[in-house]
Amino acid sequence: MTAPTYRITALAGDGIGPEIMQVGRAVLDAVAKQSGFDIQWQEGLIGGIAYEQTGDPLPAETLKMAQNSDAIYLAAVGDFKYDTLPRNKRPEQALLGLRAGLGLFANLRPVKILPQLVNSSSLKPEVIEGIDLMVVRELTGGIYFGQPKGIFTDASGSRRGVNTMVYSEAEVDRIAHVAFDLARKRRRKLCSVDKANVLEVSQLWRERVTAIAAAYPEVELSHMYVDNAAMQLVRWPKQFDVILTGNLFGDILSDEAAMLTGSIGMLPSASLGSTGPGVYEPVHGSAPDIAGQDKANPIAQVLSGAMMLRYSLNQPEAATRIEQAVETVLAQGYRTGDIYSEGMTLVGCQQMGEKILAALSV
Ligand code: IPM
Ligand code: MG
Repeated sequence: MTAPTYRITALAGDGIGPEIMQVGRAVLDAVAKQSGFDIQWQEGLIGGIAYEQTGDPLPAETLKMAQNSDAIYLAAVGDFKYDTLPRNKRPEQALLGLRAGLGLFANLRPVKILPQLVNSSSLKPEVIEGIDLMVVRELTGGIYFGQPKGIFTDASGSRRGVNTMVYSEAEVDRIAHVAFDLARKRRRKLCSVDKANVLEVSQLWRERVTAIAAAYPEVELSHMYVDNAAMQLVRWPKQFDVILTGNLFGDILSDEAAMLTGSIGMLPSASLGSTGPGVYEPVHGSAPDIAGQDKANPIAQVLSGAMMLRYSLNQPEAATRIEQAVETVLAQGYRTGDIYSEGMTLVGCQQMGEKILAALSV
């Protein structure tokens, strides 16, 4: 049998993107070699760097390349220096365009606390020990994309900023199915987060999620208002298995959940559509303040590679090997600055990558 070859689009982007991408790719190449498959990389431009070189943060060529690949491996986009650009030229627009362009409506953000890191969190060890939850965030609808949107000037000359939070039944249904399916394979608990006490869009959301639950009798469904969910996440996060929520609430709650693990530098994500390639990227951003200084934590990028192997390339064993290598290196005491605690060995981005590679080859 010939070794399978996967065509992966690598989008390094801005800030710390290129440094963590280099580590992530090296780890994937190493594990591919060990597991007997090939990765054929194609590099595309995205974000500020794409804007500088082509005038567009998401060049048509990049989207096309992404569409013609088995998966997309993305690092991060953005820099303060682009904050003054018109909105449609800003790096963040590239992410939204990529999500919409590939139909990636399901964003999976797993939050797992590694035993080696319980002391790096700002929360008490007994609160966070053993956390293993998954945020399922709707990614191509809701207030991020709803119409009308814009800044409008009325007849008297005063301006109004408008966004619209809207979900169709079909949009709720398809993301709910993703979340129920995941819950079924995990601890069979699903908490749907909304603001149904105030918002009509949430009333419909809750109604549809409840209706779909009938097809998943083995999954225990609960509902929670988003303000309470924000509180429960820091009060007793272990009550959660799968959290299902809309685009904006998911954006906020996933950052909050990320911090439970001690650093947002640890968390990977997958963005999937119903068909076609998915995007795998860290939950964190481009951290321009530390870019180019070899200080970044590459672990979220590396773990995003593991998610790519598991969800898009059907190489679950290779994925597990990467995850175990990360745990080994943390158990050995190596830490980047964001997860450093006394008595540990401080390493840079590149060295963290070397340690992970070494752990892979034993
Ligand atoms: C995320 C980010 C993005 C979002 C931004 C950069 C557009 O915060 O992926 O969580 O809001 O979705
Ligand atoms: Mg966010």
